[in-house]
Amino acid sequence: MKILHISDIHFGPYHWAADDALVLDKLNATNADIILNTGDLTSDSLEDEFQAAQKFLSKLACPHLISIMGNHDKYSRRSHEMFRKYIYDGEFIQPKNTAKIHKNKVYICPKTARLENYFTEVNYIRSFEIDKQKILVICLDTNLFQCDQGKVDEQILAALEVEIRAIKFDRALLMTHHSLLSTDDDPLINSKRVTDFVLRAGIEATFCGHTHELDMVEVSDLIRGNKFRQFMCGSLSSVNIPREDNMFCTYDNFGTPEEIITITRMHQLERGIEFVETVV
Ligand SMILES: [Fe+2]
Repeated sequence: MKILHISDIHFGPYHWAADDALVLDKLNATNADIILNTGDLTSDSLEDEFQAAQKFLSKLACPHLISIMGNHDKYSRRSHEMFRKYIYDGEFIQPKNTAKIHKNKVYICPKTARLENYFTEVNYIRSFEIDKQKILVICLDTNLFQCDQGKVDEQILAALEVEIRAIKFDRALLMTHHSLLSTDDDPLINSKRVTDFVLRAGIEATFCGHTHELDMVEVSDLIRGNKFRQFMCGSLSSVNIPREDNMFCTYDNFGTPEEIITITRMHQLERGIEFVETVV
């Protein structure tokens, strides 16, 4: 199984000026089985930014392309509807008990807005077979409405756990926008809840973005004896501060002894893009 991880494409003013066609060619040359796109498709949750993201993603040739929202994608009351319209529309997980929700704006008040859907969370599960193994990809919305910090709601995690228990699978992966482990000034404020969820559900790896930095760590739970790895990918195509490179990561033979992790850093040149590959 080959995974391609991209994040923080940031269409709109945060998107870099390099030629996206060159990036697409390089991404398509990876021939990945799965592409995991861990959020911040836009800069300001504007419709034209979602449309640009849709156009870019539609040019990726991959049987399983999975995208989630980032904090920048949730600046609008219509964010969830634009995500459904332009990026992915499917069955989103509903909370178990709506009376016990603590996360802000999981539902928009129907008295104050005209929307098609008042439930704003984009949590879903995708499953498919690769190399005769059933792969589960769990997409968890860690984003708060108009806020750069992240939070998850216990009722959503409970609903996801019920769904996961009902599915037979061989391998499970989690996608979040915010990091569960290493983080920045805008963290996932109840990340312990998600870490517990990962260990309970038997998820072998989590993928995230958000900070535009590269980070790959392994966590061992000394009490339960479980382990998982977290992969944080820098931004694919941002107007970064000088110390940050745009990049993407590929994982050949993911999770096997033959695994090869390749980080491809991208530097905009006067003409074209320089791609620099590092094998971990
Ligand atoms: Fe972000």
